[in-house]
Amino acid sequence: MANAITSLLVTLLSLQVCNSLTYYEYYAPNGTIDAGLVAEGPSFTLNNKDITIFSGALHYFRVHPDHWRETLKKFRAAGLNTVETYVPWNLHEPRQGVFDFGNLGEEMSAFLNITAFVQMAQEEDLFLILRPGPYICAEWEFGGLPSWLLRDYSMQVRSYYDGFIQPVQNYFNNLLPQLANLQFTRGGPIIAVQIENEYGNFQYAEQPADKLYLEFLRDTLTANGYEESLYFTSDSPRLSGDRGGLAGVLMTANFQDNGEENLDILKQLQPDRPLMVMEYWTGWFDHWLAPIHSTQDPNAFAATLEMIFQRNSSVNMYMFIGGTSFGFLSGANSLDIWPHYAPQPSTYDYDAPLSEAGDYAEKYYIAKDLISRYNPLEGIVTHPPQPAERTKTSYPSCAVVDSMDFPTLVSQQSSFESLGGPVAMELLPVNNNNGQSYGYVIYSTQAFITTNSTLFIREHVRDMAQVLVDGVVVTSPYGDYLDVNGFGFWNGRDQSMQIAGSDAVAELTIMVENLNRVNFGKPHKFEQNKGLWEGPVLLDGVEINQWMIYSLELKGSQVTSLSGWAPYAGSLNTPALYRGTFDITGTPLDTWLDMSTWNKGVVFINGFNLGRYWSEGPPRTLYIPAPLLKEGTNEIIAFEQYTPGPEFIFTDTPILG
Ligand SMILES: *[C@@H]1O[C@H](CO)[C@@H](O)[C@H](O)[C@H]1NC(C)=O
Ligand SMILES: *[C@@H]1O[C@H](CO)[C@@H](O)[C@H](O)[C@H]1NC(C)=O
Ligand SMILES: *[C@@H]1O[C@H](CO)[C@@H](O)[C@H](O)[C@H]1NC(C)=O
Ligand SMILES: *[C@@H]1O[C@H](CO)[C@@H](O)[C@H](O)[C@H]1NC(C)=O
Repeated sequence: MANAITSLLVTLLSLQVCNSLTYYEYYAPNGTIDAGLVAEGPSFTLNNKDITIFSGALHYFRVHPDHWRETLKKFRAAGLNTVETYVPWNLHEPRQGVFDFGNLGEEMSAFLNITAFVQMAQEEDLFLILRPGPYICAEWEFGGLPSWLLRDYSMQVRSYYDGFIQPVQNYFNNLLPQLANLQFTRGGPIIAVQIENEYGNFQYAEQPADKLYLEFLRDTLTANGYEESLYFTSDSPRLSGDRGGLAGVLMTANFQDNGEENLDILKQLQPDRPLMVMEYWTGWFDHWLAPIHSTQDPNAFAATLEMIFQRNSSVNMYMFIGGTSFGFLSGANSLDIWPHYAPQPSTYDYDAPLSEAGDYAEKYYIAKDLISRYNPLEGIVTHPPQPAERTKTSYPSCAVVDSMDFPTLVSQQSSFESLGGPVAMELLPVNNNNGQSYGYVIYSTQAFITTNSTLFIREHVRDMAQVLVDGVVVTSPYGDYLDVNGFGFWNGRDQSMQIAGSDAVAELTIMVENLNRVNFGKPHKFEQNKGLWEGPVLLDGVEINQWMIYSLELKGSQVTSLSGWAPYAGSLNTPALYRGTFDITGTPLDTWLDMSTWNKGVVFINGFNLGRYWSEGPPRTLYIPAPLLKEGTNEIIAFEQYTPGPEFIFTDTPILG
């Protein structure tokens, strides 16, 4: 009897052993590695064993670092064996030659230790796909490119233009060596590296310079110790065929619909290589002023994912968690049709399997179930448990206690005199001559204003303008969609408005908001300096050349150290700051700010820019991950451009629109 029990136990234990391999134990038994990812034949192999890549996208710069590990555990618990991330150049090199990999102590620095993220992926039993760009699209400001590139008015981004490739090379030579030893063949998690991003969509036609650019990226990776077998490009095969490809480099497909056709074309383009969907779009992103929040039906999501698996294709679900584009870091799409420019809000929920705050959505369970049915290693690898969802809370509303008027705010900003007309924000001599990247720029002058003067701005404002005469706002907030064609909006060209003075010299101020640079569009859409610069400003037909220019960057550290607050006594009816504090007892929890009763602006929590709010939506809330809060007193500051709401209101449920 005892023997029978022992032998039963032994059997159970050995079954247990059989069932309990991690992905690394299966693919690199005893740490022995002979080969990396190989994409020859019908299936990928990793270390000479067949592998179907089950990957999900997680941008470490969109999820608070304190939540990285828990999020990676959620990925692994779904059965995924891989996590994919882009790398944002604009965060890692905020000023030319100054790099931030978590070391600069600036607002986003805590998000930027990419080495820690890559190592953590391995600790959580995931392989990693690296997409370093340098252009990443991603609904991210300028597609990840740093704004200081635009100090060169002849800049040709994403091409073999010396003024572009030199900075790329310098950036890559700083980024890539840090991760080279984290390639799978050297014992790390990186199994594949992407060259550029949907480049086939960027080219108008086959141009030699463009191939030179792709080859330059490939060679720069190789020179930094990366293995060429890892490289791939990603495009829509249906729309751009192999235009974004490079001889010998694996092509992968991006799509949401028309999946069969895309995979058929990909198979025709490279019949002897495995299929991979590098971006299977699990949902979609939002644009400001769109009528509703974008979603993708879970049943349609399931059907296409199953089709992908039936084709024996590998997949990266873009996004598996979208997260948040904090601060001024969301992007904008350029459109061939009206209204030509469509900026994105801060939430990047994406209707993904994990919500912006990391909660399990229906698609999570759909993906988990399908992976378990199609994973050839089902029954061999471990099934770690799903981490619990984090508790969300709704803190009591908090009153506005102080405000700071526009002149007090503006007087504390860097200022410059221009005698040659208005200047783009990127050209301002701030940030050690790297120019201003984000926020607002204020142009102010003294001018003789009649009782009916005509203010005319040639070409466009980039992107929205508010006009003040002697400190009084004379433009209206956005009212309806046709406004974007008019004065003060990006789609209005050569627009004028009447302003009323008293036949005397008055202060004329134009505050221009950068609503974020385009991340997707044709080449000329990447010429995107911000502010007033395309043409002169004329008052009653006369060009105004003399301006005081104020750089209102709204960096969190500056916003919290301003002086000149006054007790709140109602709306100041101009752009202004409003401040309140609230106390937290015990461990802080995730929450949202509901800004639907405010008009338009940005909001800071303890000096961290959560992002933009705009009563037009679709989103009305801003996500606050708990690590941005602290036990004790917390400070909220809003920069409101028009009319503040009655108080700061919290909610435990996002309003995405
Ligand atoms: C791993 O190492 C153990 C102990 O050293 C050995 O018994 C086993 O055969 C090795 N497995 C493989 C696949 O190399
Ligand atoms: C980044 O993470 C690595 C690995 O965890 C660590 O050694 C390094 O000190 C971190 N860098 C910074 C700037 O915190
Ligand atoms: C997928 O792989 C399986 C197992 O190797 C094979 O039997 C099947 O024919 C493949 N399906 C397709 C569509 O290639
Ligand atoms: C103000 O000037 C504009 C443009 O010259 C003109 O169309 C308008 O009638 C004027 N308004 C008044 C009240 O004079």
